[in-house]
Amino acid sequence: MKHLLKLQDWSEQDIFEVLNLADQLKYEKKNGIPHPLLKGKTLGMIFEKSSTRTRVSFEVGMYDLGGQALFLSSRDLQIGRGEPVEDTARVLSRYLDGIMIRTYAQEEVEMLASYGLIPIINGLTDYCHPCQVLADLMTIREHRGTLQGQKLTFIGDGNNMANSLIVGGIKTGMTVAVACPKDYQPDPAIMEWAKANGNFICTDDVLEAARDADVLYTDVWASMGQEEEAAMRREIFRSFQINDATMAVAKPDAMVLHCLPAHREEEITAKVFEEHANEIFDEAENRLHAQKAVMVYCMKD
Ligand code: CP
Ligand code: NVA
Repeated sequence: MKHLLKLQDWSEQDIFEVLNLADQLKYEKKNGIPHPLLKGKTLGMIFEKSSTRTRVSFEVGMYDLGGQALFLSSRDLQIGRGEPVEDTARVLSRYLDGIMIRTYAQEEVEMLASYGLIPIINGLTDYCHPCQVLADLMTIREHRGTLQGQKLTFIGDGNNMANSLIVGGIKTGMTVAVACPKDYQPDPAIMEWAKANGNFICTDDVLEAARDADVLYTDVWASMGQEEEAAMRREIFRSFQINDATMAVAKPDAMVLHCLPAHREEEITAKVFEEHANEIFDEAENRLHAQKAVMVYCMKD
């Protein structure tokens, strides 16, 4: 049994094992080869925030693996009325074989893991989004053949995506550059770790970060829970956009990724988005294969 609470907790070997398994499961799915690796298992999916990709990829993924998934909205659970996470964890441990949770505080996910007796998978917190980044690494490797030595540039808010991309990128041998406004940098401890363990820069100069990039990545300027800051953020982040000028300084064959949902003409122009739609929707598809690999890795006996 293994948790996926944040990528820092996983070794390089854990990450590559899951990426290899994801490639295999994708091949099997495309070729109609059944893979009921979690037959008879049940995953509970607790959502305290909205989701399209995470919910559907875990639910379909569990079906493909021969198990079942339960969608548990915090609006309906007693957790939404104040039942403590530590009690919820101990109760759900008695019914389920694993829990995927999407919530606000990373501490809630860590608490669930410390009280429960079953694998906990982080489906996004304000701090990180490890499942998305495993799908991203899978997509980069698929399109560019390798992760080692590739330059990954993230442009935008130093948010959950930025935090996980830095950790995932550095652990797999990529060079990581982040361009964000000075007051919206990624987690300081993650940046310190990245500087000590690989090639990492954080700057407020978008073109400096994008120069010679193999992969350009962006995400919304206002994340879930920050809706009331959206107008203010549109002003602050105006120049932190993937557009033709950014693409012009990246490698000529650079790929573009976006975890989605996207806000066209904010963090990415509609033109660049559509020119790279193939890569972006491969990335979305790979959520399914990567999440299946995560579930097998964490929940298999
Ligand atoms: N990228 C991602 O996690 O999408 P959802 O919010 O739709 O799950
Ligand atoms: N940063 C975004 C990611 C959505 C997948 C959010 O937290 O809303």
